[in-house]
Amino acid sequence: MRDEILFVVVPRLAALCCLSALVMTYLGRSRTSDRQEPVVTDSKFGHGLARWWRYSIGLVLVGHLVGFAFPGAVMFWDRQLARLVLLECLGVTAGSVALLSLLLIPMRRSRSSRSPFDIIAATLILLEVGSGLAVAVRYRWASSWAEVTLTPYVHSLLGLKPSVVLVAQMPFLVQLHVFCAFAILAIGPLTTTAGFLIKSTGSRIRRTSPAG
Ligand code: HEM
Repeated sequence: MRDEILFVVVPRLAALCCLSALVMTYLGRSRTSDRQEPVVTDSKFGHGLARWWRYSIGLVLVGHLVGFAFPGAVMFWDRQLARLVLLECLGVTAGSVALLSLLLIPMRRSRSSRSPFDIIAATLILLEVGSGLAVAVRYRWASSWAEVTLTPYVHSLLGLKPSVVLVAQMPFLVQLHVFCAFAILAIGPLTTTAGFLIKSTGSRIRRTSPAG
């Protein structure tokens, strides 16, 4: 029952929350879209860190996407020990840079321009990156075992027929990592940064459309 709730009901609810928040923000019905563009930092050091954060988390997420989209290719790559070690080291290095830069970025945003969703999302992202790194270090060679456990689960979710058999047998850290991804999906569009991005994309589309 617990597994069904965590890995079938929660991802569906998260997808629903995400979609409705996207639509509401796009239509200007959400109060998050009224907030100003977030100023994260104005120091040179802060800008540098923000760039390191974007590149490192970008690399990690591209790695995740490649794993989800081409499990066979990743398993083939991992057949040689040297290549497997290289891939794992790359993931851990990118994840460590992401975690460090996230912890060090000096927040200069005023309290009034920060919504509770921003704080919840930042905490969830920290937990997500931390748990991902912990999984990579504690349960080695995840690029191989995850392709036959978590990737089929992700595919089952995308196929709208969630199967919890494999994910339910994963250790707590792995389940926490997967669960946090759903929580981020649900709350992400409600943050100030996402509101600003969706709103400005919406105005750009309206300006370029023939009707607008
Ligand atoms: C359902 C979605 C997700 C699944 C199934 C998943 C699965 C995994 C697995 C299996 C690992 C270990 C990889 C390895 O050691 O080779 C990992 C690591 C990691 N994950 Fe995720 N993850 C998900 C979503 C996310 C999201 C949304 C983020 C970021 C916001 C994230 C950030 C990380 C980080 C930073 C690492 C450590 C670096 C690495 O080894 O790649 N993950 N994840």
